[in-house]
Amino acid sequence: MVATGILGTGAALPEKVITNFDLEKMVDTSDKWITERTGIKERRQAAPNETTSTLSVKAAKKALEMAGIEPEQLDLIICSTISPDMPLPATASIIQRELGAGTCCAFDLAAACSGFLFGMTVVDQFVKTGKSKYALVIGAELLSRYLDYQDRSTCVIFGDGVAAGVMGPVNSSSGILASEVHTNGAFADHLYIPAGGTARPATCETVQAREHFIKMRGNELFKVAVRSLEEVSRRVMEQANVHAGDVDLFIPHQANQRITNAVCERLGLPAEKVYSNINRVGNTSSASIPICLDECVRSGRIKKGDLILMSAFGAGVTWGSVLMRW
Ligand SMILES: CC(C)(COP(=O)(O)OP(=O)(O)OC[C@H]1O[C@@H](n2cnc3c(N)ncnc32)[C@H](O)[C@@H]1OP(=O)(O)O)[C@@H](O)C(=O)NCCC(=O)NCCS
Repeated sequence: MVATGILGTGAALPEKVITNFDLEKMVDTSDKWITERTGIKERRQAAPNETTSTLSVKAAKKALEMAGIEPEQLDLIICSTISPDMPLPATASIIQRELGAGTCCAFDLAAACSGFLFGMTVVDQFVKTGKSKYALVIGAELLSRYLDYQDRSTCVIFGDGVAAGVMGPVNSSSGILASEVHTNGAFADHLYIPAGGTARPATCETVQAREHFIKMRGNELFKVAVRSLEEVSRRVMEQANVHAGDVDLFIPHQANQRITNAVCERLGLPAEKVYSNINRVGNTSSASIPICLDECVRSGRIKKGDLILMSAFGAGVTWGSVLMRW
């Protein structure tokens, strides 16, 4: 039985940096509040000519190069995004065309901040059954295009970024050991964009009412996030018969440093085993975990044989964990 591993990673961040001091000039906030309540100091913002697909292609090329795989060898492309280039077609189609990846199966997956782990879990099924050999999973978000820079409760949190992983069969002593993904639609209205879909198609009124921007009930989400992340992390460790003490590196979705700290305290994971880059990139939704992964792989923080736990939580609400041996 083969296992599914990550053969290469790549990331692409826009160059423009938005600091907390920049935001102080736009909304009634302060560097002190943002730093203390979220851990974020700065985030990236895409240039007008950059799109979800252009950054995705950059990240994908780096991941393919590390994996030593040609685009034509891919038989599956999943673009996890809630900020696609356009409603139709799927951003994955544009990425496939720009990479020259033939006519392989390519689709978008909308699971918000948990999307990369949802994508990895889908790929795992394709690879284990032999349906797919090499797959590209991309976490890609340009949430700045959906942020209301008059709403201090959301515009300070999110940032733009993209990262990709090439996945494929590996020796069964490594790769994904356990994964679990969940959705609870009861909280669907805790983080959403009211207009622009079939429920409220775009009109002059919806634009004037700022209904095309992200709305969030942050305080309520905070509690659900901590509980869900703890539970699902425990469950994948149980499935693989490992303990928190065995984990070499925990990569949580970078939603809020206080959420990460609370989850790690409950799981008994010490700070030196937890990766965080939220101070530099903010919350990049589904790009968050793969950006961390890419930084850890390229800096040598992840070594062959390491036990890696990844857990995410996002709009939907969605949550999940993937436990893998590198
Ligand atoms: C959004 C979040 C940072 C807000 O932090 P919080 O400690 O919960 O803050 P609250 O929403 O309770 O607001 C506290 C006060 O700060 C104010 N505030 C909110 N944003 C602010 C900002 N950017 N600057 C200054 N003050 C702010 C609020 O208006 C409120 O003021 P009040 O007490 O006078 O009413 C936090 O709730 C969070 O991270 N939630 C989870 C987000 C999440 O996980 N999203 C989904 C997954 S990606």
